[in-house]
Amino acid sequence: MNYTQVIIPRYDSQGRIRGKDQITGKVYSKKDMKIRPDIQQRLEKALNTGTYLVTYPRGTRHGFKFISKDEGNTFLESLGITVSKKQTIKTEESMSWKDATPPKNFYIDNLKWKFLVRNIEKGKNILMVGPSGCGKTDATFKAAESIGKEVTYFNLGATQDPRSTLIGNTFYNKDSGTYFSESLFVRAIQQENAVILLDELSRAHPEAWNILMTVLDPIQRYLRLDEKNDSPTIKVAKGVSFIATANIGTEYTSTRVLDRALLDRFTLFEMDILNEDQEYALLEYKFPKVNKDILLSLSAIIGDIRKEITSNNPKISNMISTRNTIEIAELLDDGFTIEEAAEVLIYPLFSDEGGNDSERIYIRQIVQKYMPSKSKTGTEHLFQVNFDDKVED
Ligand SMILES: Nc1ncnc2c1ncn2[C@@H]1O[C@H](COP(=O)(O)OP(=O)(O)O)[C@@H](O)[C@H]1O
Ligand SMILES: [Mg+2]
Repeated sequence: MNYTQVIIPRYDSQGRIRGKDQITGKVYSKKDMKIRPDIQQRLEKALNTGTYLVTYPRGTRHGFKFISKDEGNTFLESLGITVSKKQTIKTEESMSWKDATPPKNFYIDNLKWKFLVRNIEKGKNILMVGPSGCGKTDATFKAAESIGKEVTYFNLGATQDPRSTLIGNTFYNKDSGTYFSESLFVRAIQQENAVILLDELSRAHPEAWNILMTVLDPIQRYLRLDEKNDSPTIKVAKGVSFIATANIGTEYTSTRVLDRALLDRFTLFEMDILNEDQEYALLEYKFPKVNKDILLSLSAIIGDIRKEITSNNPKISNMISTRNTIEIAELLDDGFTIEEAAEVLIYPLFSDEGGNDSERIYIRQIVQKYMPSKSKTGTEHLFQVNFDDKVED
C-alpha cells in the first residue's frame, strides 16, 4: 500500500490531542483540529488503539485508515524516514537520571527533578501532590520526555465512567453477539517501561480507585477484566510506572482526600510552590519582551499572596498558581497594565464578601502596594485614604 500521510498521534503537555505527519512533517495543531474535528476524532482513536493514522489515494480523494506501529515504521523506513526517538519507547542503555537537569522552560529544584526522573526510570509509582496549576502534569510529561519515554495519558478527573476508561466496553453486534472491547489502559499496562499518567486521581470516581488497587500494588500488579467472560487478569508489564496527580498539599494528603490504602501504593512527590525569585526567573525566561520592572512587581505581588496563604492564619483562602501568573504575564506581553491584568485575572479569584474586610480588598491592597505612586498626577489613592483624618471646614 502506498500511503500519502503517516500521522503519529500524541497528547501534548496539556493533555490535548495532536498529531504529526511523518512524511510531510505537517503538525496537526489546535487550529487544524478546530477546522477538522474528524481528524481529531481519528487521532483520538489512533491513540486509544495504539495505531498510526494514515491516508492513501482513493480515486480522486483520500481514504483514511489505521495501521499498526510496526507496519507504519516499516513503511516509513522504506521511504528513508526514521521515526524520531521521542515518539517511540527508548531502550534502557541511553537513559540516565544521574545527569538529569531540569528543562529551561520549567522551574523545579534540581534535586526534585533528579528524583522524579529517577523514579520514572525505575518504574516506581509516584503521586504528585500540590495545589492546582503548580506544574504537576507538565513536570510529568517533561520528565518522561527527557528520558525518551512516551506517556500514556488518562484524565481520571474528567471521566464519568471509570470502568470503560480502565477496563473496556461490552458491545453488541448482530452477527457475533456481545463482545468485549478492551480499553487503551489495558493495552498500555502491558507495554514494558510504559509511563502511565493518571491525572487528577484525587478527583476520580471511587470506582476508579477500586479498580486501580491491584494494579498499583507492587506485589499484585494485575488488572481483573471482570467485564469479560471468565474475568481474566492482565499482568502489568515490567518497568511500567504509574504517575498520579492530586490537587492537594501534603498536609491534606491523608485519608480525607484519597483512600489510605491507595495512598500507600505511591511514593509522594510534592511539587513546590515557587517563591518570588523563582517565579521571576521563570517569567523572565518565558517573557523576555516584557519590561523587567513590571515582571518584578508581578512576582512581588504573587510572592506576597503566596506568603499570606501559607501563613498560620491566612486572610485569604485562595492561591495564585504559576498557571495564573503565566496567564497574567501573557496579558502584560500583549500590552495590558498590571492593574488591568489584576482586574480580570486576579481579583475574580477572591471573594468580595464582607465589604472592606473581604479577601478581594485585601488583595487589592497588596497589588496597590507595588503600583507606582499616582499622587503626582492627582489621582486618588484608593487604599491610602486615612479615614480618621478630620475634614477641615
Ligand atoms: N514550576 C513551573 N515551571 C514552569 N511552568 C509551570 C510551572 N508550574 C506550572 N507551570 C505552567 O502552568 C501551567 C499549568 O501547569 P500544570 O502542569 O497543568 O499544573 P497542575 O497539573 O499542577 O494543575 C502549565 O502551562 C505549566 O507549564
Ligand atoms: Mg494537572
